[in-house]
Amino acid sequence: MNPAIRAVVRKAIFHNVEVYGIYGGYAGLVSGNIKKLELGSVGDIIHRGGTMLQSARLPEFANPEVQQKGIEQLRAHGIEGLVVIGGDGSYRGARALTQQGYPCVGVPGTIDNDIPGTELTIGFDTALNTVINAIDRIRDTATSHERTFVIEVMGRNAGDIALWAGLAGGAETILIPEENYDMKEVAERLRSGHDRGKKHSIIVVAEGVCSGYEFARQLQENTEFETRVSVLGHIQRGGSPTVADRVLASRLGARAVELLIEGKGGRAVGIENNKLVDYDIIEALEKKHTLDLDLFKLSKELSI
Ligand code: F6P
Repeated sequence: MNPAIRAVVRKAIFHNVEVYGIYGGYAGLVSGNIKKLELGSVGDIIHRGGTMLQSARLPEFANPEVQQKGIEQLRAHGIEGLVVIGGDGSYRGARALTQQGYPCVGVPGTIDNDIPGTELTIGFDTALNTVINAIDRIRDTATSHERTFVIEVMGRNAGDIALWAGLAGGAETILIPEENYDMKEVAERLRSGHDRGKKHSIIVVAEGVCSGYEFARQLQENTEFETRVSVLGHIQRGGSPTVADRVLASRLGARAVELLIEGKGGRAVGIENNKLVDYDIIEALEKKHTLDLDLFKLSKELSI
């Protein structure tokens, strides 16, 4: 998030446009927690995790009267366009403001990689690198103790984190909400690896499938292998952003500002085939994020 905020602020000031930061998400918007930002306000943040603007969930923002209050605050501060950086909930808020006639541009920021209209979201790569680090460490213990490990990762209803980290981490089995699994097949795969002399097995479970503990319980009913569970949790959401995320955030944040300067509100920016794209935010939210099933097929082929 921080490299995206920096890009928005710096790009706007580069074009002689004043920038204000809204602190605490839509809650800060409605209550008027809004402050002018300068070049220096975003100094020394590019390498920091989290967001200097803080974040908050505000379910009441689904109410059009609350949205109107937000728009009144923006107008009272002389703000003519809004860049919203976030995931699903933030996008729904940006769509609502757009429908109320206020120009907004959505920038996809979530570790889940589940925003339609972009192949990658800001934070996904950083989270993946954290997960990979954990898998590599867990593998050492799994090998020396000849254990099966179930590692539960985040992703809400999307399997992207599990799939990419599982593939990159050489997991024997990856479970994603987009595809049903067959416990018999999982058990057979573990057995055949064991019979070939494999010293460990790593199973990555997306939280959208079931909890790691629940899956381990099922596994123990169907196999004889000693199993341990590791739920990675919120460590996936923090830490210094990777190079890929910093570059992505810089490009997307700057593009959002360009669109507003060009008078194009109601858009959602994204990246496809390494090119910046933008879509109507209302249409973007009607699309469905699709996980790369070819990657899933490949992961199965490579983990025989
Ligand atoms: O959307 C990001 C995410 O980290 C999901 O992967 C996870 O399910 C959720 O947020 C956790 O939310 P909270 O921190 O509110 O428990």
